Amino acid sequence: MRPNHRPGTDRLGLSARAAALPAQPIARLMAAALANPRLISLAAGFVDDATLPIGEVRRLMEHWIDHPDLARPSLQYGSAAGDPLLRELLLQQTDGAVAAGLTADHIVLTAGSNSLLHLVGEVLFEPGDIVLCGAPTYFVYLGMLQDLGARAVGVASDHEGILPESLDEQMRLLQSQGLRSRVKAVYLIPYFDNPAGTTMTAERRRAIWRVIDRWSQTDPLYLISDDAYRGLRYRGPDEPTMLSVGSDPERTITCGTFSKTFSPGLRVGWGVLPSGLVEPVLRKKAVVDFGSPYLNQVLARMALQQGVIAEHETVLQQAYRVKLDAMVEALDQHLASIPGVRYERPNGGLYVWLELPPSVPSTVDSPLWHVCTQEGVLYVPGEVCYAAEGVPKNHSTIRLSFGVQSVEKIREGIELLGRAVRQVCEGQLPEPLQVARV
Ligand SMILES: Cc1ncc(COP(=O)(O)O)c(C=O)c1O
Repeated sequence: MRPNHRPGTDRLGLSARAAALPAQPIARLMAAALANPRLISLAAGFVDDATLPIGEVRRLMEHWIDHPDLARPSLQYGSAAGDPLLRELLLQQTDGAVAAGLTADHIVLTAGSNSLLHLVGEVLFEPGDIVLCGAPTYFVYLGMLQDLGARAVGVASDHEGILPESLDEQMRLLQSQGLRSRVKAVYLIPYFDNPAGTTMTAERRRAIWRVIDRWSQTDPLYLISDDAYRGLRYRGPDEPTMLSVGSDPERTITCGTFSKTFSPGLRVGWGVLPSGLVEPVLRKKAVVDFGSPYLNQVLARMALQQGVIAEHETVLQQAYRVKLDAMVEALDQHLASIPGVRYERPNGGLYVWLELPPSVPSTVDSPLWHVCTQEGVLYVPGEVCYAAEGVPKNHSTIRLSFGVQSVEKIREGIELLGRAVRQVCEGQLPEPLQVARV
């Protein structure tokens, strides 16, 4: 068997890269949900079905059908970079972009921002290159780095995200190991982080830049700012983009998406790229798909132009604020009094990050996991959100999502979770689990 191959894959003739890529955590979670359809899933990071903009899309499509000059080109292939008018609109709404001398040519539209992150990874990372990220961070991105052969290293984070001093310390450590030139990027989710729910203040953003600037003297160090949740803000000020507080647009990659603020089914995301990366990304995109679905881009453009996205954001903010509050109230009621339990109310996004006492692991196959899935509630085990290197995984953490479920189901789910945590803390486990634990 070739090194790194998973058993049973040799006879398929897979590439080493495909064979080495394990199933992603999401597959296990979906299997658990399918096995018990009554489960209240607080795991999926989906948006609420009830808020999907059917009426808005119908009106946009009616307008589209009535305007053949608009409709016909959008049924053709577009360009690799995507619709120029949408790119211009996105440029204008990215604070700091115009001031930094960027134009619509620095923007590339992709099928969701995940695709942009992957393209950027393809053009920047050699196998063995290092990306520094929060601990915890977006687990799909960790899977992507694994697919690219890059090493993810987790950096200590607090209620605002990555700590500048820990970032500096990690850079020093890597330099002492002769690895400075292998560190290619710092990946941040500075607005309502997935999974931690944290938001970076402008001051923290500047402090992160100061560290990156210090370490960029010899080799390039990019900052990837994943702004997927910026539009889902329920409280607090709208913080400036990393681009607008940073010193160097040539090292800043900003990505955005309409998935959270309008429709994930649209699959329209984008990247605001440094000049030097536009061509390499477009060359890569030219061999992958030579352009993402053009019709969807035109729909997104119409929605932006007609103010539909801004209106819809307001609707979403109201709906999700209520759900977030219901989740935090339920946590206050059912978990807050358990010693060692910690969580904070995020100002936006879709997630609450929960820390449990160290004696209560939350991993798949832990007693808590079994009790929860038997009792009817599903969560994302926090351990999947930690990079393999850097800050050690905290196995007693949970990502809770309040996006999908109704207020009633959120309350019920958190009550079940609270009961399960108490059961595990007190060692009152169902029979088979007691045996398994011994
Ligand atoms: C932090 C973060 N970035 C990027 C994405 C990808 O979004 P999309 O590919 O739908 O634009 C997600 C989706 O959940 C996310 O949570």
